Amino acid sequence: MNTAVQKPTPSSAPAAHAAWPVPQRPPAPATRERHIRFEPMTEADLDAVRAVEVSAYAHPWSRKHFHDSLQAGYPAVLLLGEALPGEPGKAVMTGERVLLGYLVAMPGVDEVHLLNITVAPMHQRQGWARFLLDALVLWSRGQRAQWLWLEVRESNEPARHLYRSHGFSQVGVRKGYYPAGHLRREDAVVMSLNLAAATAREAP
Ligand SMILES: CC(C)(COP(=O)(O)OP(=O)(O)OC[C@H]1O[C@@H](n2cnc3c(N)ncnc32)[C@H](O)[C@@H]1OP(=O)(O)O)[C@@H](O)C(=O)NCCC(=O)NCCS
Repeated sequence: MNTAVQKPTPSSAPAAHAAWPVPQRPPAPATRERHIRFEPMTEADLDAVRAVEVSAYAHPWSRKHFHDSLQAGYPAVLLLGEALPGEPGKAVMTGERVLLGYLVAMPGVDEVHLLNITVAPMHQRQGWARFLLDALVLWSRGQRAQWLWLEVRESNEPARHLYRSHGFSQVGVRKGYYPAGHLRREDAVVMSLNLAAATAREAP
């Protein structure tokens, strides 16, 4: 069994990125099949990030959204995997690694707001989003945050399912929060996770 999850490499990245904890083990068997690692997102990764972003969303973040988040020093991490045979040319790569997914968050006083979590479409349903959320929970606890917050489109059932099954509760609705095309808007469901109460998923 290959569970070679590597520690993030020390780097010159801002402190917000410096200590991304790696959950004890990937949550699903498929996720044990490759070496993976977290790396801080940098400007040099944005072509790859945008390639995944536009393939994953009808209303993707622009390059400027990512750029502004990096400039603001928000924690933004990539989940990278070694390429499996046949993947280069099909998967989105950054350097020699496959870009499996990423997240961007915004720290507050005693809370962390998840701004973006995305798994590349060809790597979805393999447990990577759960893995990213586990890492975010661990990182947020390390920052002594009490709460994780997020907004999700009302129509985004996969994401709402993910968050509910990860312990998030719906706490409100923001009317017309998202653009929905043709001058229409879509409501956002606001969800939170009490970090003091939640426990990160651990290896058995
Ligand atoms: C939502 C998203 C991040 C899930 O990523 P993922 O790696 O496929 O999710 P996982 O494999 O970790 O699945 C975890 C859980 O999420 C839920 N889930 C994920 N995809 C789902 C789908 N298509 N339908 C229903 N539930 C789904 C399930 O509860 C799943 O658990 P299960 O496999 O035990 O049933 C991914 O679909 C994605 O990137 N979508 C586009 C971007 C997006 O919508 N991001 C969220 C913005 S708020």
